[in-house]
Amino acid sequence: KKKVIIDTDPGIGSPLTEPLFDGADDAMAIFVALRSPEMEVLGLTTTFGNVHTALATRNALHLHRKLRIASFVHGSDGLGNQDFPPPATKPVDQSAAAFLVEQANLYPGQVTVVALGPLTNLALAVKFDPSFPKKIGQIIILGGAYSVNGNVNPAAEANIFGDPDAADIVFTCGADILAVGLNITHQVVLTDADREKLEQCDSKYARYLCKIMGIYFDYHKDAYFIKGVYLHDPTTLIAAVNPSPLTYTEGVVRVQTVGLTKGLTVFDNTKKRYGEITAWTGMPTVKVAVTVDASAVVELMMQR
Ligand code: BDR
Ligand code: CA
Repeated sequence: KKKVIIDTDPGIGSPLTEPLFDGADDAMAIFVALRSPEMEVLGLTTTFGNVHTALATRNALHLHRKLRIASFVHGSDGLGNQDFPPPATKPVDQSAAAFLVEQANLYPGQVTVVALGPLTNLALAVKFDPSFPKKIGQIIILGGAYSVNGNVNPAAEANIFGDPDAADIVFTCGADILAVGLNITHQVVLTDADREKLEQCDSKYARYLCKIMGIYFDYHKDAYFIKGVYLHDPTTLIAAVNPSPLTYTEGVVRVQTVGLTKGLTVFDNTKKRYGEITAWTGMPTVKVAVTVDASAVVELMMQR
């Protein structure tokens, strides 16, 4: 079984960024993971992004009560506007970065981190232990927009925009990284018809998703004029279950950390075209997803 840690920002609404996103897609990704016999979820670590960390932690606890949870922040009563009761469990008293480093040391080369929010926790893990990039198995990131516009503004995708400095540290740390960006996830849509199928499904996971997905669907209708929702985080998680729906190319990713284009991901794969000559020669390369079999992803998501 693949050992997986999900670094996530599940929640509804965002006090930090406009326009508002919600974490329904984080919830979907977590559920796909819990329903996938191919993987063993070592833990959920939470980060801010869709909501601040305390609420993300609370919501992650809500999504699965038996998991080990590592988080910076503890206790979060009264922070959400959801009508769920407080979770029955508490977060583990350990920072996310410490948990990531601990697990990488415990299972060198075997842990996959699926990063579904801003990359703060991973950057801290890199700073905390410079050997972390070599000890972690793979990092699969929902982050960036490669040759397409962002979703916070024309330059930046939300997770990268959330902490561009952290993103630049992670992309250049030398770990085995696969980045899934908006060029991919804007092709993967859970439609209104899929939603109806989920509504008829006799599953506690489907029922939970249907309950929290409303705002996410409304948002997509208003912002993107589509009848459905983008499956950012589930697509990324599914890459850890079964990478075959994706193809990728390799190159250097750097992140703009200041100014008008703060959060822009610049992908340099000129090496492919010009041999070894690239402006950023010597920087560690990462894999960036370039094509997706969208229906295979949606099918797997629905099935799980
Ligand atoms: C990313 O931002 C959040 O809204 C989603 O959960 C996803 O991780 C998409 O840009
Ligand atoms: Ca997310």
